Amino acid sequence: MIEFIDLHKSFDSQRVLNGINLTIADKEIITIMGKSGGGKSVLIKHIIGLLKPDKGSVLIDGVDITKLPPRELDKIREKLGVLFQGGALFDSMNVFGNIAFPLMEKTKLNKSEIEERVMQALEDVGLKGMEKKYPAELSGGMRKRVALARALITEPNIVLFDEPTTGLDPIITSSMHRLISATHEKYGYTGVIISHEVPRIFEVTDRVAMLHNGVIVEVGTPEEIKNSTDAAVRQFITGGIGGPIEALNMTQ
Ligand SMILES: Nc1ncnc2c1ncn2[C@@H]1O[C@H](COP(=O)(O)OP(=O)(O)OP(=O)(O)O)[C@@H](O)[C@H]1O
Ligand SMILES: [Mg+2]
Repeated sequence: MIEFIDLHKSFDSQRVLNGINLTIADKEIITIMGKSGGGKSVLIKHIIGLLKPDKGSVLIDGVDITKLPPRELDKIREKLGVLFQGGALFDSMNVFGNIAFPLMEKTKLNKSEIEERVMQALEDVGLKGMEKKYPAELSGGMRKRVALARALITEPNIVLFDEPTTGLDPIITSSMHRLISATHEKYGYTGVIISHEVPRIFEVTDRVAMLHNGVIVEVGTPEEIKNSTDAAVRQFITGGIGGPIEALNMTQ
């Protein structure tokens, strides 16, 4: 379904991705872990074609999207839903407008069909009755749920979640995770999640891939990852400050 082959990306002299190889199966949920600033968002931006690699390819259903002309890339994007890090809602639109937006942009549904879809989506994410509120009037958790509803509204084949729970309390985090599982069951998409929520994310995901020093150092089921002997994976899971992942230097 999604395949990264020897993907390289640098910004000026900074090497971020240094030969990513990863195959994501149809309809699985995979979580990408790795240190802050390690290139996780950069990696998934290559799936949407927001960034172009210096070298290597990204195949979606066997098509190398890094070489597509803009119009054909747009067609691929129609199959994608994205929950951006930070939510990225339109502040000037209310909840209804935010969720309806992709339907108005990408489909020819009429007004009542759109309304029906949006109301169902609001119910799916537990925000029934909130359609008239503006993003500024919502809590952080509610904003993430609106972003989730917007990402799913076109019933995409692939959904990318960039840190869907960062900044949320543990209870809202669990309910976001449950929502991801429930919507995955209902719509059957391929899900790529970027998350630091170890070990809770293990209940949601089929597999975990660890990004370290620009490469995927390990990929496996949550059970395999928990038993990993890789030093970076172990350090990430236990939150240790001694290991290959540099901790912040507090003396500076
Ligand atoms: N458009 C860009 N231009 C220049 N540098 C960039 C650009 N996008 C990302 N970077 C750099 O690439 C590195 C990786 O960034 P990225 O956003 O992928 O990190 P991340 O793993 O998602 O971190 P976090 O967990 O904090 O979100 C960072 O050093 C960042 O400054
Ligand atoms: Mg990021």
